[in-house]
Amino acid sequence: MEFFVDTADLEAIAELNALGLVDGVTTNPSLVKKVGRDFKELIAEICALVDGPVSAEVISVDAEGMLQQGRTLAGIAPNVVVKLPLTLAGLQVCKTLSGEGIATNVTLCFSANQALLAAKAGATYISPFIGRLDDIHIDGVDLISNIRTIYDNYQFETKILAASIRSPLHVKDCALIGADVITAPPPVISALANHVLTDNGLKTFLADAKSAGITI
Ligand code: E4P
Repeated sequence: MEFFVDTADLEAIAELNALGLVDGVTTNPSLVKKVGRDFKELIAEICALVDGPVSAEVISVDAEGMLQQGRTLAGIAPNVVVKLPLTLAGLQVCKTLSGEGIATNVTLCFSANQALLAAKAGATYISPFIGRLDDIHIDGVDLISNIRTIYDNYQFETKILAASIRSPLHVKDCALIGADVITAPPPVISALANHVLTDNGLKTFLADAKSAGITI
């Protein structure tokens, strides 16, 4: 399973990257708004920092505009992935960009049928949003499971990029189902390492090492 970090915050990306925990980055306009930077410059900097794929989202809704913006974004760096909304126009542009060898991430997916269409359009990634479904009392993890089954039934190569991850529990559930990638905010990724028994055990070991006079 690959770990993408869901943020536009360069410092947070650099911190996790230094730990070897970043396989890629996803951004969206709301995340970019939070950091208040020039969009294209920011994407170029993230792409230079991280080895893996970096998703950058178009802001047009018509096919012509999305296509032009997608090509512009793809020109920023070889590891840019063009993020397109799951609309009929977005799917059309996905098919065209995929045909040009440009990586795509179809975003705002909330149903299995939407994911089926994205795979047929040749998307590199499909982003089903778990947390936002949970917010309206629909089981987001269940959607990941359904998409896994459908993609396996037909050997679709589109990668399931589980998004809108809100907790370590979401990460575990996605790993059990076999999602290809999770994208999560930096605090969720860091929290995966936490366990109270680890903290307590380490405290005891260090106290015992001190009282035993162990040196290395
Ligand atoms: C994914 O690509 C999205 O940027 C993100 O996961 C959305 O998460 P949210 O629902 O917590 O805003």
